[in-house]
Amino acid sequence: MSKIGIFFGSTSGNTEELAEAVAKQFGIAGDDIHDVSSADENQMKDYDVLLLGSSTWGVGDLQDDWEDFLPKAAKLNLADKKIAFFGCGDSFGHSDTFCNSLAKIKAGLSSTGAEFIGAISKEGYSYDETECEEGDNVIGLLTDADNESEKTEERLGIWVKAVKAAI
Ligand SMILES: Cc1cc2nc3c(=O)[nH]c(=O)nc-3n(C[C@H](O)[C@H](O)[C@H](O)COP(=O)(O)O)c2cc1C
Repeated sequence: MSKIGIFFGSTSGNTEELAEAVAKQFGIAGDDIHDVSSADENQMKDYDVLLLGSSTWGVGDLQDDWEDFLPKAAKLNLADKKIAFFGCGDSFGHSDTFCNSLAKIKAGLSSTGAEFIGAISKEGYSYDETECEEGDNVIGLLTDADNESEKTEERLGIWVKAVKAAI
């Protein structure tokens, strides 16, 4: 069975809450849920599947703790790993840069050799633009706790199904 770990960064707690909901869906225990503000990037090597979570700040920028963590993670060899993304953004107030941090993390980890999984349909989203869009899909679970929290549960279910089918 695949060993699954969560690594998340969260400034005001929304992505942390989402990380806990994700953990519940996959049956991931507390020891395997890592806040990147205190995690060591080498801990990523302990897992077969990495679920990476971030909110987006500034104008489409990484969450602060990912600013430090990503350059270190980018140097790892993750060739045998599968990576999926989840995050929180604001599809109304920041509609042109919705959840862009996830696309930045994906780009940052492109040299690690990891396989990216867990894309879902972009149908039903209200954003104007996101770097997370790839054709008819977005690269992971994009949520909006500020405006569309009622849609999170359904989106989570769709994403969990996509990730489980790929691992
Ligand atoms: C100053 C500021 C800038 C933000 N910039 C963006 C952005 O560019 N794109 C986006 O999708 N959300 C943006 N947001 C929304 C946050 O990502 C959102 O509130 C998120 O739920 C915070 O999650 P966290 O508590 O895990 O950090 C911004 C919020 C603030 C207050």
